[in-house]
Amino acid sequence: MTSTALRGRAWKLLEMVTTPLLPSDYLDLVSPLRTGADLRGRIEAVHPETGDAATVVIRPGRAWRGHTAGQYVRIGVDVDGVRLWRAYSITSPTNRQDGRLTITVKAIPDGKVSNHLVRRAKPGTLIQLDQPTGDFVLPRVRPAKVLYLTAGSGITPVMGMLRDTEFDDVVMVHCAPQPQDVIFRNELHDLVAGKKLRLTEVHTDTDGKLDISRLDELVPDWAERETWACGPAGMLDAAEEHWTGHGVQERLHTERFRPSIVVAGDGGGGGEVTFSATGKTVDADGATPLLDIGEEADVFMPSGCRMGICFGCVTPLKAGAVRDLRTGQITEAEPGVLIQTCVSAAAGPCDIER
Ligand SMILES: Cc1cc2nc3c(=O)[nH]c(=O)nc-3n(C[C@H](O)[C@H](O)[C@H](O)COP(=O)(O)OP(=O)(O)OC[C@H]3O[C@@H](n4cnc5c(N)ncnc54)[C@H](O)[C@@H]3O)c2cc1C
Ligand code: FES
Repeated sequence: MTSTALRGRAWKLLEMVTTPLLPSDYLDLVSPLRTGADLRGRIEAVHPETGDAATVVIRPGRAWRGHTAGQYVRIGVDVDGVRLWRAYSITSPTNRQDGRLTITVKAIPDGKVSNHLVRRAKPGTLIQLDQPTGDFVLPRVRPAKVLYLTAGSGITPVMGMLRDTEFDDVVMVHCAPQPQDVIFRNELHDLVAGKKLRLTEVHTDTDGKLDISRLDELVPDWAERETWACGPAGMLDAAEEHWTGHGVQERLHTERFRPSIVVAGDGGGGGEVTFSATGKTVDADGATPLLDIGEEADVFMPSGCRMGICFGCVTPLKAGAVRDLRTGQITEAEPGVLIQTCVSAAAGPCDIER
């Protein structure tokens, strides 16, 4: 008998002994990050950055393929016994020697996962990981001049880039309410002292929100710079309009943490939503994503980015109609129709196959 066949028989025997669990379940207990296991990570440390933001140091499992600076990773975290998935930009450089990666999370009011990670996550906790993804990355050929335009937690993918790649001429404009709210402030100021970065901080509590036309004064050659921008929707919408207005939109690269919602108010729809696989029916308004509606009702809802980019939430629409909150477009049920629950709301009674 070959060694492969022998191994196969030994594994079958083990399966009989360990039933109802599988041998891999026991291996998961003793070696959760091993090759062949579902990709997981272990939180090894949580370092506070500001009053409401912290960097989480994660040791990924063996199957981790490594990232490109600027990309994000989806993580699955158990919060009060429920596995929730969220996306976070990777803030560590690609060449970190100890094989760990970091994400930096800002706790938002009522945010389930962000508050858990910033305030309650403990070293030793296992989390689920996906492979890194995202196209908010630097090009292979380095641009001569770079501008980073960021606000709040939008600094995170850019910090991943700053730690990874040096440029001869890089300027950053960063907005935060007050100096103490600037995540990575000491490190940014070290880069400035080392002449590796020119930085303008806009403190919105005293200076007001950044009026994008102020770039002419803050960074006079902004239009010549390859620009990476990440921050709230209002800032990114204004930047896109500004760059397009000056005919240089191809120089602007943006990353959004939330979808741009065009459907205002209650969306004018809403209705009874049936999750037929679970056998639950709940009332929904016309503006709340079906992903949130399902989670609130304790229905298992797969998800990823929660903003319409990863397709981790697609679900068959069995009956009724839903509205895409980004475009207002209505989708009606027909065989084979899939919807993204994170950006779709009920547009009347509907049945979602979950
Ligand atoms: C590609 C990508 C990269 C990201 N990178 C980071 C990162 O590096 N650091 C980071 O802190 N976050 C990042 N995010 C946002 C992150 O995925 C979560 O959306 C955020 O942590 C909130 O999750 P939560 O569970 O705490 O909030 P939830 O419990 O999901 O939501 C609570 C409330 O806050 C609102 N809300 C949800 N998300 C946001 C938000 N981003 N800003 C303001 N209000 C919100 C909800 O509508 C709801 O009313 C990223 C998102 C994407 C799509
Ligand atoms: S969760 Fe990513 S597209 Fe819906």
